[in-house]
Amino acid sequence: MNRAADQSEANPLREGLSTRAVPQPCSVVIFGATGDLTHRKLLPALYNLAADGELPPAVAVIGFARREKSDDDFRRVMEEATRKFSRQTVRDEIWKTFSQSIFYHQSDFSDEAGFKTLAERLDKIDKERGTRGNRLFYFAVAPDQFEPILKHLKTAGLNKAKEGSWARVIIEKPFGKDLASARELNRVVSDAFSENQTYRIDHFLGKETAQNILVLRFANAIFEPLWNTRYIDHVQITAAETLGVEGRAGYYEGAGALRDMVQNHLLQLLCLIAMEAPSDLSADSIRDEKVKVVRCLRRMVTDEVASNVVRGQYAEGAINGQSVPSYRSEKNVDPKSTTDTFVALRLNIDNWRWWDVPIYMRVGKRLPKSGTEISVHFKKAPFVLFNKGTNEPNVLVIRIQPDEGISLRMQAKMPGTSFRIEPVKMDFHYGTSFGKASPEAYERLLLDAMSGDATLFARRDEVEEAWALIDIIENAWSAKKNAPDLFFYPAGSWGPEEADELLARDGRSWRRF
Ligand code: BG6
Repeated sequence: MNRAADQSEANPLREGLSTRAVPQPCSVVIFGATGDLTHRKLLPALYNLAADGELPPAVAVIGFARREKSDDDFRRVMEEATRKFSRQTVRDEIWKTFSQSIFYHQSDFSDEAGFKTLAERLDKIDKERGTRGNRLFYFAVAPDQFEPILKHLKTAGLNKAKEGSWARVIIEKPFGKDLASARELNRVVSDAFSENQTYRIDHFLGKETAQNILVLRFANAIFEPLWNTRYIDHVQITAAETLGVEGRAGYYEGAGALRDMVQNHLLQLLCLIAMEAPSDLSADSIRDEKVKVVRCLRRMVTDEVASNVVRGQYAEGAINGQSVPSYRSEKNVDPKSTTDTFVALRLNIDNWRWWDVPIYMRVGKRLPKSGTEISVHFKKAPFVLFNKGTNEPNVLVIRIQPDEGISLRMQAKMPGTSFRIEPVKMDFHYGTSFGKASPEAYERLLLDAMSGDATLFARRDEVEEAWALIDIIENAWSAKKNAPDLFFYPAGSWGPEEADELLARDGRSWRRF
C-alpha cells in the first residue's frame, strides 16, 4: 500500500486533534504596504490562506503607505508579488475574489488626518464586508516609525476596540537593538496597546518543525526521561544560509548575525528544546516556561566572551561554483565594517536538567548550504561490548528546514558473519509521512493573531531577557580595548576555523550538514 495514503487514514495529526481557536473576521491593516515583507511574505501568505479556505469568512486587507496609489494599482502590484512569491501557483478565479478584499490607504505615518480617515474607512468596510469591528494592525515598518503610527492610532481611537470586537497589533523584528531600546519600544507600544493586544512576531516559531518540537518532546513518552544531563552530552543548533546580505545592508550593518538571528530565532528554538513541560497549552503557560530557560542561560562576564563566542564576516569566495564578493564590498556596506555575518557560541543553561550540557549555536550568511537544524547528541554507550573500535553516539536531528523532519542515528550490526557495527538512521520526513506541504510560517502566525492565540509570539519578558544576554556580547565586541577579534571566512566555507576550535577545545565537532 502507498505509505502516504496509508498514513493519511491512520494519522491522528491529520484530523480531529486541532485545538486552534477560530480565526475571526477582521480588517488587516498593513503599515509599510509597499515594502519587501508585504510583497514577499504577507500578501502571499494571505492569498494561500484564502486558497486553502482557511481565512475567516470576512477579511479585508488594507495597505497603508505613503506613495500615491489607487486600490486597483495596489491590487495589481500585489498580484504580481503573489504570483512571484506564493508557495502555491496562483489560481485566477481565487485571486479575482480575494483581490476584491484588498484596499489601499495613502497617508504619511506622521499625518494625523490620515489615521482619522483610516478609522472612517474601517467603519465603512465593517458595514460593507462584515469584518465586525475587529482590527489587526501589522507593523511591517522600521522601528523608528512605530512611535508616530502608535500615537496616531491612539488619537484616532483605533487602539481600543468597540464592545464585542478586538484590536491587535503585530510587531515585526527587529524588536530593538539592545535591552535599552527594546524596553523603550515596549514602553511606546504599551502606551497604546496592552500586552495581550501585542503580538511580537518571530517567524521561526511559525515553522511547522519548530511547533513540532513540543509534540516530539511531550506527546511521546520515550524522549522525556532521557532529556537531561544524565543522557545528553550536548546540543547543537545551526542556521546556515547561502545568501549574503541581499540589499539589506541598511538594516544589517547596524544589526549583524547575533542580533538578527540569535537574539530571536535561535534562542526561541533553544527555549523549545530546553523548557520544562508547561502546565497546559495556553500561551502564557508555554511562554512562562520558555522565559525561564533564557533566565537560566549563564551570563558571561566580558572576559569570557572571546572564549565562548566567535564572530566572523564573509570574505570573497564562491557559492555553488559562482564567485561572490566579500561582505565589505556589498552595496551600502562600510568598506571597514566590523558587522558579524557569522556567530558561533557556546552557552550553558544553569538548571538541574541542563547542568554541564553545553549548547553550541552557529549562524551565518554565505555558508555552503542553507538549512536550519537542531541536533541532540546523546552520551556514548559504555565501551564494554561492541564499541571498542567505533563508538558513535546516538544523535537526534530535528530538521527545521529544508526537508523538514526528524532522524535518529543509532548503531546497527552490518549484515554478515562478523560483528561489524555501523551507524544507521531512522528518518521521518514531513513531506512523505503527511503527503502535504507545510504552510509558510506567516500563514500560521497571521491566523493565530486573527484567533487571539499568542502562543507563537514572543512576550515582552522573553524579548527583554534575550537582549540582556546579547548585550553582554555586543558590549564586549564594541569595547575600545581588548575587544575579541573579528575573523574572516571565505564565502562558501563553514565560517572561520575558530568556530571549529570552539568545539574542538571541548573534544567535540560540529555535525556535518
Ligand atoms: C530573518 C533575518 O529574520 O530570517 C534574515 O532577518 C534571515 O537575515 C531570515 O535571512 C531567515 O529566515 P528563513 O525563514 O528564510 O530561514
